[in-house]
Amino acid sequence: MSKPRAITILTGAGISAESGLGTFRDPGGLWSRYDWRDLATPEGFARDPGFVLDFYNWRRERVRTARPNAAHLALARLAREGEAAVTLVTQNVDDLHERAGSPEVIHMHGTHLTARCAACGHRWPAPAVMAPADPCLACGRPATRPDVVWFGETPHHMGRIARALQATDLFVAIGTSGTVYPAAGFAAAARTAGASTLELNLEPGRNAGVFDAARHGPASEIVPEWVAEVLAER
Ligand code: APR
Repeated sequence: MSKPRAITILTGAGISAESGLGTFRDPGGLWSRYDWRDLATPEGFARDPGFVLDFYNWRRERVRTARPNAAHLALARLAREGEAAVTLVTQNVDDLHERAGSPEVIHMHGTHLTARCAACGHRWPAPAVMAPADPCLACGRPATRPDVVWFGETPHHMGRIARALQATDLFVAIGTSGTVYPAAGFAAAARTAGASTLELNLEPGRNAGVFDAARHGPASEIVPEWVAEVLAER
C-alpha cells in the first residue's frame, strides 16, 4: 500500500504479556484461573465487592512493578517520529503505553490508574489498595470501584474511535484475540471504510479472516520490526 497518512492501532493484553502481565484467554490466562463473571461484571461486584477489589488491587500492583517492553516503546516511537497521524486505542487498563512515551492513549476499557464511585460517578487517583468501605471523595458513599469497563458496560470513547476507523488508511491490531466486541469489530469497520488491515499477534486471532496481512510472533519482536519498516518509508 502507499505510505499511510493515518494509522489506527488497537492493542490488547498480548502487547503487555512480555512485560509480565497475564493475558485473559491464553493457556493459563486469567479467565482460565478466575471466572470473569465474578471479577469483570457489575453483578459480580455487587455480589462480592471485597473479592473484586482485592483482584484489582493485585492487578494494579502487578502493573506498577511492570515495565513497558519493546513493543510499547516502538509504538511510542512511531507516534513521535513517523509522518502518519497515529491513533492508539487500547483494551488494556495498564499504563505501559503512557510510560513508554505514547503521547495519547485511548483507553476504551478504562484504566487502573483511577478509582470511580459506583454511586455518583466521581473519579479520583486510585489508591494502592481499594476497599469496599472506602468513601467516595465527592459524595462520601462507600461505593468505590475500579474505573474499568466490565462486561455488559459501555466502552469509552466509542464516537472518537468510530471516526478514526472511518478516516484511517491502515488499521493494525496488536496482541488481541479478536473475541470481545466492539473492539473485535474494528478491523472490519476500518476495512469497509477503505483501510488496509494488519494483524500483529502471537497467533491468528478469532477474527483473523478480516485482515489483509498478518505477522505472527512475540510483540516485542514483530512490532519494532514493523515500526522500523514504516519509519523507513518516510
Ligand atoms: N505477543 C503478541 N501477542 C501475544 C503475546 C505476545 N507475547 N502473548 C499473547 N498474545 C496474544 C494471544 O495470542 C491472544 O490472541 O494476545 C492475545 C490475548 O488475547 P486475550 O487474552 O483475549 O486478551 P484481549 O484480546 O486483550 O481481551 C480483550 O477481554 O476480558 C476482556 O476486558 C478484557 O480487554 C480485555 C478483552
